[in-house]
Amino acid sequence: MTADELRSKYIAFFTSKAHVQIQGKSLIPDNDPTVLFTTAGMHPLVPYLLGAEHPAGTRLVDYQKCIRTVDIDLVGDPSHLTFFEMLGNWSLGDYFKDDAIRMSFEFLTSSQWLNIPREALGVTVFEGDDTVPRDEESAAVWRSLGIPEERIRYRPRADNWWGPAGATGPCGPDSEMFYDIGKDPCGADCGPGCSCGKWLEIWNDVFMQYNKTAQGSYEPLVRTCVDTGMGIERTVTILNGKKSVYDTEIFEPIIESIACAAGYTRGTDAERDRSLRIIADHARTATFILGDPKAVSPSNVGAGYVLRRLIRRAVRHGRKLGISGAILSPLATIIIETLGTAYPELEENRVNILTSLNSEEQKFLETLSKGEKEFEKLLPNVLKNPKRVMSGRLAFTLYDTYGFPIELTEELAVEHGLTVNRAEFEEAFKKHQALSRVGSEQLFKGGLVDQGESATKYHTATHLLHKALQIVLGNHVAQKGSNITAERLRFDFSHPSPLTPEELRRVEALVNEQITRNLPVTMEIIDLETAKKQGATALFGEKYETNVKVYTIGDFSKEVCGGPHVPNTGVLGTFKIQKEQSSSAGVRRIRAVLE
Ligand code: ALA
Repeated sequence: MTADELRSKYIAFFTSKAHVQIQGKSLIPDNDPTVLFTTAGMHPLVPYLLGAEHPAGTRLVDYQKCIRTVDIDLVGDPSHLTFFEMLGNWSLGDYFKDDAIRMSFEFLTSSQWLNIPREALGVTVFEGDDTVPRDEESAAVWRSLGIPEERIRYRPRADNWWGPAGATGPCGPDSEMFYDIGKDPCGADCGPGCSCGKWLEIWNDVFMQYNKTAQGSYEPLVRTCVDTGMGIERTVTILNGKKSVYDTEIFEPIIESIACAAGYTRGTDAERDRSLRIIADHARTATFILGDPKAVSPSNVGAGYVLRRLIRRAVRHGRKLGISGAILSPLATIIIETLGTAYPELEENRVNILTSLNSEEQKFLETLSKGEKEFEKLLPNVLKNPKRVMSGRLAFTLYDTYGFPIELTEELAVEHGLTVNRAEFEEAFKKHQALSRVGSEQLFKGGLVDQGESATKYHTATHLLHKALQIVLGNHVAQKGSNITAERLRFDFSHPSPLTPEELRRVEALVNEQITRNLPVTMEIIDLETAKKQGATALFGEKYETNVKVYTIGDFSKEVCGGPHVPNTGVLGTFKIQKEQSSSAGVRRIRAVLE
């Protein structure tokens, strides 16, 4: 069965069960400043899972393009991808566990639909903890459908709890469905959910019962919902008896094209096979980012940085395979052809996809050749070193000045019988990252940060204002710019329409309330992922493996920021909005003072 056929079958099955097909949405989420990409089919549906009425009704079905970059380093193994497609069906306060599981089972096993042998299926359910009881209800449904006891496993929150998609939002216990690929069990305890490779997860039924708030608490949802997600690539893999997503018809033409460009025979070298898979995965992800109606361009921040990193990583693996020219745009052409029917936006944005890929690749290739020349210049001196070690500082200069990746410096070093002092490089790199983060924050805030007492107060007031706007207007409010002087703050944020006098009054009142509460302002340095998990608003949320400063104002606000801030909100005085106006399309500007 092909991906196209699977998509059609899924939609047909659920429409036959009174679901209405809705369109998948953009890869760039609308209302969630805590993540860069749409990470699951439920992501665009968050407002409806939280209680809003959906115009198409209470039973929905769709397919959604998703990007998850957390596992980028695992890409290249048999099942991890940065871009994937998710099939999903939803109940918005309609059916719950019983019907959801029965429908999943029917679709998987019925000869009219996927016809997967029942003996190959295993499931997991939530084992329960202090907040939510063990999910005996789901287990009982599975039992009644004939799944034997040993293939129903109870698993903890770490495995059988889903969501939220970003830092806050709907979530709940889930029941996951696995396909037994027929390998021997890894031990006596091996069962559905085991990570040894025997059990491949193909579908997840989430029973949405809670809304996780910015403060980290779980509030019961107005009505319970079902959110499900079936991975297209993985399901096509098992339906066709393949061992890896990369062996399916989805990837076959892409991988073949790369192998052909490299003149490499597949399956002869594990490292090279891995490079093929990485290039294929990254080419798809980059094509979809550039083919999105809300496409971003390669850059050094946000989604643009992820795009740049994917393209560059693909180019590097291309070079490892001996491909010296640009390879991504021919691959994008294949991707547009094979996925263009399901995602017509790819065809519509073909020119953007191809030109952006070409120009970014070209730029990077130039960087590489410049870096290589510089390396050659440094070489005679390094060769004089009796230990034949290139200093990490020198390697860092190549990176910092010419953008030359450390891995390539190391490769060239090896070719000349040298090693690179990697620890020293890492040290210099970390220092640089800390500096550049502060730098970009300053840039964003409009020039050098004024550390004076008055400006510092305005920094803290800006955080209060940002949060108050989100509370009053909604979570779509994201900072678009900020400019602070000793006399006033100016804050730009996304919002489609002018604020009403009542909204302005509420925002002002909320800020002043926090000032009166004399909330403590604390700072900690943690890594970005942890910060996001804790619900911190991140403006640049982008660079990997970076520690960031997170400022927390009592129970009210948490934001990634370079500072400086006052120790307590009590010292701020009275907050007053002087002006509210348009700044650019979809962006409003507030000017406010502290008196
Ligand atoms: N939202 C659930 C998932 O992504 C279905 O697994």
